[in-house]
Amino acid sequence: MEIRTSGPEQPTIAVRTVQTQPFADQKMGTSGLRKAVKLIKQPHYLENLFQSIFDVRKDNVGKSLVLAGDGRYWNLETIQIFLKMAAANGIAHVKVGQNGILSTPAASCVIRKYKTDGGILLTASHNPGGENADFGVKYNIASGGPAPENVTNAIFEASKAISSYKIIDAPDIDISRIGQHRLAEMTVEVIDSVLDYQELMESIFDFPAIKQLFQTGFTLCMDSLHAVTGPYAHSIFEKTLGAKNGTVHNGTPLTDFGGGHPDPNLVYAHDLVKIIFGDNAPDMGAACDGDGDRNMILGKKFFVTPGDSLAVLAANAKLIPAYKNGLAGVARSMPTSQAVDLVAQKLGITCYETPTGWKFFGNLMDAGKTTLCGEESFGTGSNHIREKDGLWAILFWLNIVAARKQSIEEIVREHWKTYGRNYYTRHDYEGVDLAQADQMMNELIALTGTLKGKKLQGHEVQYADDFAYTDPVDGSVSKNQGVRIGFVDGSRIVFRLSGTGTTGATLRVYVEKFENNPDKLDQDSQECLKDFIAIARETAGIKKHTGMDKPTVIT
Ligand code: G1P
Ligand code: ZN
Repeated sequence: MEIRTSGPEQPTIAVRTVQTQPFADQKMGTSGLRKAVKLIKQPHYLENLFQSIFDVRKDNVGKSLVLAGDGRYWNLETIQIFLKMAAANGIAHVKVGQNGILSTPAASCVIRKYKTDGGILLTASHNPGGENADFGVKYNIASGGPAPENVTNAIFEASKAISSYKIIDAPDIDISRIGQHRLAEMTVEVIDSVLDYQELMESIFDFPAIKQLFQTGFTLCMDSLHAVTGPYAHSIFEKTLGAKNGTVHNGTPLTDFGGGHPDPNLVYAHDLVKIIFGDNAPDMGAACDGDGDRNMILGKKFFVTPGDSLAVLAANAKLIPAYKNGLAGVARSMPTSQAVDLVAQKLGITCYETPTGWKFFGNLMDAGKTTLCGEESFGTGSNHIREKDGLWAILFWLNIVAARKQSIEEIVREHWKTYGRNYYTRHDYEGVDLAQADQMMNELIALTGTLKGKKLQGHEVQYADDFAYTDPVDGSVSKNQGVRIGFVDGSRIVFRLSGTGTTGATLRVYVEKFENNPDKLDQDSQECLKDFIAIARETAGIKKHTGMDKPTVIT
């Protein structure tokens, strides 16, 4: 096959078909394919994956796609490979962020706004970047959300059978300047990374009120952790909303994120935590992850858990212009705290409980069943796009503070007084032997049938099961989504294995306890939850299976 470029003087560009062998490990996990850079760099590795995606999509000819990246090592090289393969596979138009930068939420926004046929997101989210760290590829569909499991499974099947891929030989495209380029018969449009996303934010929130808040001296410390949100945060907070220069820390995206772990939690965003719990702390602290879809919210010397954050957003949604008429429903992933359920109850709306991973919210939002969604893993978002959205969550909080004229701590404490407090923690055991981890989960699953009515260290079990989900929109069933043990007093323990890790297994243990005694709303979470943490370790045999006395990360 030959493709003729436009203009008579242009040479004919030949599509090259390259023979290849399948790789056995191209199965997408909770959120796309994540691998160590050295695996990604194997000859033909990315090409095989991209061809599998093109083959599964089938109708590529004449279609448009968005190409995004979080700025990590190997983004730029991958962008050139992808563009040459897209041209060879008949794609007509690709929108790519300037310098390859487009946050995950911005990519979702651009896919939806310009009605493209989907997008490729080059990111390993919050995993570290650099030559010795991780890389990732996500495929999003035309709704702007991650491809559902039936699609990612089909891509995996295609990747196991692949024997050749198509690519053109052409010089690299200069993606450092905004404008249009031609690659064989395909147009490559380099777009401003921030513009469309910022416009969407301005249509959702009360920017004048937030501007006013900053004018009255409110201070924010936003840590972009040298990842993708830097340019967005500079433009939105400093340039547009008038927050003072220096509000954004680590705002220049670096290919290795400055050697850090771009995950907005109390462990990895330690510089921000120091500032927020130090002298002269700002009124608010916030951070986002590598690709900009996660968020952490802090008040002055005060941490807001993601579960509480979601509940507060839901309870205050009517203060936001875009949600002033109320919420259609809310949704949370199964391990996420049940704080938002209590708000939904009071509002008389449904709270959906889905498996872990943003992709499960897509159908609910498309069907108009839910407006706000959230996960315990610092993910919050709404139906404005089909990904979780870090800066959106920060703007939501700023808008609430501007409207209520209270501090973040006051807002959360008032929330607890009204609804009670869901004490919550997640303990991660990283680098566990894969076989041991599977065995532990199998033993737990076998145990679930025997636990009901039993007392574990004095606490009676109300139910225990292996969580399965039936999508209320398309009826698809997702099994083995984690083991839940619920207690009569409303407390809960959840066990599941991570689907995003790249080495060994990561066991996640989620522990939650409800408290509505007004005198007991100010306890230390680890202390308050210690009984249930001990029950979890004991019941699952964590020491026996992992050899670890304590978790590697506590959030
Ligand atoms: C983790 C989080 C999950 C989130 C995903 C992608 O997945 O737990 O909530 O959707 O990252 O950001 P896990 O590693 O637990 O499978
Ligand atoms: Zn992310």
